Amino acid sequence: MIDNKKVLFSGMQATGNLTLGNYLGALKNWVNLSDEYECFYSVVDMHSITIRQDPATLRKRARALLTLYIAAGLDPEKNCIYYQSHVSGHAELAWILNCFTYMGELNRMTQFKDKAAKHADNINAGLFTYPVLMAADILLYQADVVPVGIDQMQHLEITRDIAQRFNGLYGDVFTIPEAYIGKVGAKIMSLQDPSKKMSKSDENPNASIYLMDDPDTIRRKCKRAVTDSLGEFRYSEEQPGLHNLIDIFCACTNRTPDDVVKEFADGGYGQFKEAVGEAVVAVLDPLQKRVAELEKDKPYIDGVIKNNAEKANYYAQKTLRKVQKKVGFPEKIR
Ligand code: TYM
Repeated sequence: MIDNKKVLFSGMQATGNLTLGNYLGALKNWVNLSDEYECFYSVVDMHSITIRQDPATLRKRARALLTLYIAAGLDPEKNCIYYQSHVSGHAELAWILNCFTYMGELNRMTQFKDKAAKHADNINAGLFTYPVLMAADILLYQADVVPVGIDQMQHLEITRDIAQRFNGLYGDVFTIPEAYIGKVGAKIMSLQDPSKKMSKSDENPNASIYLMDDPDTIRRKCKRAVTDSLGEFRYSEEQPGLHNLIDIFCACTNRTPDDVVKEFADGGYGQFKEAVGEAVVAVLDPLQKRVAELEKDKPYIDGVIKNNAEKANYYAQKTLRKVQKKVGFPEKIR
């Protein structure tokens, strides 16, 4: 608790081009929850280097992502928006938690298996212990709630396991966090293969809508989205392509699948795809304009970066000192 409010933590990687999945699965919920909780939103640049990055590009993308958080509606006066690498407590706590995490647990992580298969030439130890750094992110701020898409659930579970193990040994040190999964949009699928999630790293650019895609590109990608040959307008797992488009439409317009099925039941898929395109444009176009405006104001963004890193550091140090004491590190002489 901070000032009688429960704490929320979440983060995103500044790797690749962010997709509509990142927005609908995470960022949109962050904005909805931001009044209710004391929030920490991190640009997790330390996670990003588990895959080889071009340094200049990573720096640029990290700043663009931080700006996007603000553009999406997170007020940096109220929400702590900062770079993970500016708060050394993340790395320090991750080291300690590494010593309370088992190889067998990490071996079960599906994201590790997927990424290791994709980057077979660089299966580094950081990629393997990635979930421990994520646990450190969350536990460092004593977060109660962590809004994420479904793909991060396994990492949330291991975070809870590590926290419970640590508390079991040393008393109530960490708050046990709960995942928050949005009702719609928690798993946006590829537009070209609805059995896969929409991903920044998809090789087919038509599979994902990128947050910075221009309106015509968005409309074209929606029009080309894979559906099926049944020709029935239903919200059903048997029609995964259409199901995904309905999810996207509902998440963008705050409507329910039932309602949408009723409205579009008599039209063809083509007509609906056009409506989906327009709904996505209506969300992303203003967002892109706000990003462009904010990018012009360098001193403002710099101020946010500096002030919020200080705030995050303050809370991180509180937890870290407690943990260091518990595990037996000698006290610093001040
Ligand atoms: P990342 O950067 O891959 O994704 C950021 C957020 O977007 C969600 N997401 C999706 N949601 C719905 N449909 C999709 N197709 C889709 N793709 C991505 C993710 O679930 C996530 O919420 N490991 C994390 C970043 C992280 C983190 C943390 C998150 C590091 N530390 C602590 C929460 C708490 C990641 O790589 O997310």
